[in-house]
Amino acid sequence: MILVTGSSGQIGTELVPYLAEKYGKKNVIASDIVQRDTGGIKFITLDVSNRDEIDRAVEKYSIDAIFHLAGILSAKGEKDPALAYKVNMNGTYNILEAAKQHRVEKVVIPSTIGVFGPETPKNKVPSITITRPRTMYGVTKIAAELLGQYYYEKFGLDVRSLRYPGIISYKAEPTAGTTDYAVEIFYYAVKREKYKCYLAPNRALPMMYMPDALKALVDLYEADRDKLVLRNGYNVTAYTFTPSELYSKIKERIPEFEIEYKEDFRDKIAATWPESLDSSEASNEWGFSIEYDLDRTIDDMIDHISEKLGIEGKHAL
Ligand code: SER
Repeated sequence: MILVTGSSGQIGTELVPYLAEKYGKKNVIASDIVQRDTGGIKFITLDVSNRDEIDRAVEKYSIDAIFHLAGILSAKGEKDPALAYKVNMNGTYNILEAAKQHRVEKVVIPSTIGVFGPETPKNKVPSITITRPRTMYGVTKIAAELLGQYYYEKFGLDVRSLRYPGIISYKAEPTAGTTDYAVEIFYYAVKREKYKCYLAPNRALPMMYMPDALKALVDLYEADRDKLVLRNGYNVTAYTFTPSELYSKIKERIPEFEIEYKEDFRDKIAATWPESLDSSEASNEWGFSIEYDLDRTIDDMIDHISEKLGIEGKHAL
């Protein structure tokens, strides 16, 4: 039985049906502190900062794999670092301890470009590099990667983690991250409303589209245990763009779309992160690859958000 924590978040909302489709609805349990529609897949309320709740769930449902997605992202984490510490640090420790005690077979944890910091090289950053994050989110996520490796080496618990860049998607809107602008902008564009961007026009960040992000996580989950060398902290990425490059590409499709820039604290966070990543360890060890380049991502986003909002999309222009 597979348990997903943080199932109501941007990634969890899509990972749960993806896993259900692949492994069967009966074999997936979604969990979060708030419930979203799970389309008939079992949901339980679970606060990862509460060890007893995790123990009870793991035991009751004979959990043998955990996708540990619950976490407070970078922007929200800077507003409430104590909450980020509690959920991310204590939550991950609780999950690992419960997994060890109840002999869970595998734990998969998404990590992030938030583990990098100002001393990290800016471009084509390899998985093994300087990781001195300056956000509470980043501090807790590099700790999660290191704990994952520690539990593997010390206790034989099969923990795997990869580092996502910003994730672009249309099902659940992200609200707590620094990279969220790259989702938000599409809603404004489709509604033909001016978008106020909180990052500087030239702030380049690595990104990828949700279908590739889901496939990467499940490919890592399924990878042959003996083939994994790095095991924790694989960089994955699809492309890099700045807000002004993304804006230009959207404007090619929606000519009346306008943007203005008003940087806030999130631009300072983004300034400490790399502009592009090298994901060769992920490609070499478990065959990571992407299907969506930036143009395909943009076309797909505009189509789906137009449909969602009931507005005619680019084809009507
Ligand atoms: N999307 C995350 C954030 O912006 C980065 O991994 O916090």
